[in-house]
Amino acid sequence: MKRSLSGIQPSGVLHIGNYFGALKQFVDLQDNYNGLYFIADYHSLTSQINPDVLRKHSLNVVLDYLAAGIDPKKSKIFLQSSVPAHTELMWILSNQTPMALLERGHAYKDKVAKGIKPNVGLFNYPVLMASDILIYDADVVPVGKDQKQHIELTRDFAVRFNEFYQKEVFKLPEALILETVATVVGTDGEKMSKSYGNIINMYLPEKELKKQVMSIVTDSTPLEEPKNPDNNVTKLYSLFATPAEVEIMKEKFIAGNYGYGHAKKELFERILDYFSKQRELRMKLENNMDYVYDILKDGAKIAREITSEKMKVVRDTVGLIGGEL
Ligand code: ADP
Ligand code: TRP
Repeated sequence: MKRSLSGIQPSGVLHIGNYFGALKQFVDLQDNYNGLYFIADYHSLTSQINPDVLRKHSLNVVLDYLAAGIDPKKSKIFLQSSVPAHTELMWILSNQTPMALLERGHAYKDKVAKGIKPNVGLFNYPVLMASDILIYDADVVPVGKDQKQHIELTRDFAVRFNEFYQKEVFKLPEALILETVATVVGTDGEKMSKSYGNIINMYLPEKELKKQVMSIVTDSTPLEEPKNPDNNVTKLYSLFATPAEVEIMKEKFIAGNYGYGHAKKELFERILDYFSKQRELRMKLENNMDYVYDILKDGAKIAREITSEKMKVVRDTVGLIGGEL
């Protein structure tokens, strides 16, 4: 079976953008791929996160993975920091990486443009991500559209390395991006993102979830007047409704006498309905953390086995003789 691999940073609670862009794909792929899904906690250090917050968020992402339906019998779940070989490979790959290539990275450029003073970790972020992927010989990497450039860089690094050492050490991975949900909009109409404060978090208590849905930005057209049918509420509604149902909502907007408040309520009901089983499961898991830690230990063991074999090949290829002593 082919291998699917992906990770999510524990930088905050996961949201429906993460769910439809990434997490749902992990679940949908699990019968046909060997899945490896990790929590990218090394990556979160690039934003200099508080240690207690990092611990809490890391476990939250594990709970989110399991609640979303990743089956630990089919796919492995582990913390990136359980497998230090990721960082060893990062060091090796970084010596094959021209500075100029990373200077063009848009995640890095965006952060600099926002006035964030970059640390070396942030600059190197794509090299760590490439190491995460290449060390497992992943065939596919299910992600949202914003990660496309990172996967392209990963392929580029693999080609450079293989060419430099004249050996097919690394496999070229394919990004799996679902065009229909490539970029889920947030409550403000921009890309939904933990760092923009515009998220809808499917696993929050009902009251808070409702507040998020009600905060979706709309215009101030009076209730009786026709409204733009392609507004933020219909965009989000289309994730949960059939195309015919979305059409009905759009027609109601065009007809007038249908307010954004009505539509938000319909959306809220859909979200609750869609995630109700997952929300229940997540609550059960929260009270059974021993089981959750067992899953992480099992995942870590498998991940270390795979990576230690791969690192033997890598070290041998580049001429590092210390690893086997
Ligand atoms: P965030 O932007 O909230 O920090 P991450 O960068 O941690 O999210 O993304 C984790 C995964 O979720 C990635 O595969 C990413 O492409 C996907 N993702 C994040 N936001 C969205 C979105 N708004 N729409 C679709 N996919 C998304
Ligand atoms: N950069 C990804 C994000 O922010 C997280 C990530 C780290 C990742 N390593 C990865 C995703 C390897 C896929 C494969 O979403």
